[in-house]
Amino acid sequence: MDRVHVAIIGCGSIAQRKILPALLRREDVDVCAFYDNNPRNSQSACAQFGNARSYVADTLTQVLNDSRIDAVYVCTPNSTHSELTIAALNHNKHVMCEKPMALSYGEAVNMLNAAEKAGKVLSIGFQNRFRDDYMMVKSLGDEGFFGDMYYVKAYTVRRMGIPNWGAFLNKDIQGGGPLIDLGSHVLDLALWLTNNYKPAYVVGAAYNHIGRLGSDCNRWGPWPNEEYDIEDSAFGFVRMENGMTISIETAWAMHTTDERTACVSLYGSKAGAEMRNGLTIVREMNGSLVEIKPSVAAESSQALAPGNNVNSANDREAASFIEAVKAQDPSLGNARQAAVVTKITEALYHSAQIGRPVDL
Ligand SMILES: NC(=O)c1ccc[n+]([C@@H]2O[C@H](COP(=O)([O-])OP(=O)(O)OC[C@H]3O[C@@H](n4cnc5c(N)ncnc54)[C@H](O)[C@@H]3O)[C@@H](O)[C@H]2O)c1
Repeated sequence: MDRVHVAIIGCGSIAQRKILPALLRREDVDVCAFYDNNPRNSQSACAQFGNARSYVADTLTQVLNDSRIDAVYVCTPNSTHSELTIAALNHNKHVMCEKPMALSYGEAVNMLNAAEKAGKVLSIGFQNRFRDDYMMVKSLGDEGFFGDMYYVKAYTVRRMGIPNWGAFLNKDIQGGGPLIDLGSHVLDLALWLTNNYKPAYVVGAAYNHIGRLGSDCNRWGPWPNEEYDIEDSAFGFVRMENGMTISIETAWAMHTTDERTACVSLYGSKAGAEMRNGLTIVREMNGSLVEIKPSVAAESSQALAPGNNVNSANDREAASFIEAVKAQDPSLGNARQAAVVTKITEALYHSAQIGRPVDL
């Protein structure tokens, strides 16, 4: 396959700001079809990112029955990921689905089964894996530089950033607050960097004091605080089968001075990697502790940030999926790993609800 023909399902923010700019920079991709159940969004995406042969689809069936289309990008709200991904796989399309993979592990397993049955690539949009700094930590970890990695800090905290648009505050559509939204990125990084996908049990806690109280200081203005029923912050502890632990801290709102998103630090018997104001490697040299500041770009974790340019994490993520499709190699998709992220997230919510640890 020389060229990959793509359809976009859900033409909102992430499609227009992360996915389409990256696909447009590739010479081997044709974005053929745009579908959104709000036609204004598909029309505007097609006008901006389409070419002479692109079309705005009136129905999902029209996209799925288009035999030219090799791959579908699912960029719709969380609650639709499973159903739309399975529909596309059942029509023999490769799928790149936005994070989080699904609302529940059960949904994620159904997606994995559909991909296996179709023999197609299924990947989830975890673009932080493609940042220069995390790619460096990953290769150091794989080479054994850190020794035994026994503790990972997965941190993603906004001080007062409750998103008040779209479906963000709708529990049924979104599945939760910052844990499922921001936390899925840092959990994915924690597992991927340490190549450890065997959780044993979790302890989780979730709060919505600020969400319910309201604030005059929210970055995006007021939100309907009286109806607020998801968490504004969630914290947890994941014990892995091999004894490694992950602590996770996520917040959309917290009275803290330490506002950092998508920051994952890891600690091993021989060295550590601290992600705070950029990457710092900590190790012993010549009888002294040293801090090494690699000159890798500390690219913003935000898919939507400026700097989304050639060779960015977003472009590398697009390349990774498109090359997997061209190779027709389902083993190159990351969905099996992403399903573990969903499993842990669901268990953390469950633990927070029952106030007890949850075995996995
Ligand atoms: N990778 C990242 O860092 C990142 C960042 C932001 C959002 N996301 C994910 O992307 C997804 C979409 O988020 P967004 O910010 O683009 O939201 P959005 O509301 O801006 O866009 C979603 C679009 O999907 C459309 N839609 C809803 N249901 C549909 C359906 N059944 N069929 C077709 N179209 C449908 C909506 O009309 C809307 O245009 C979410 O799952 C979110 O978690 C990922």
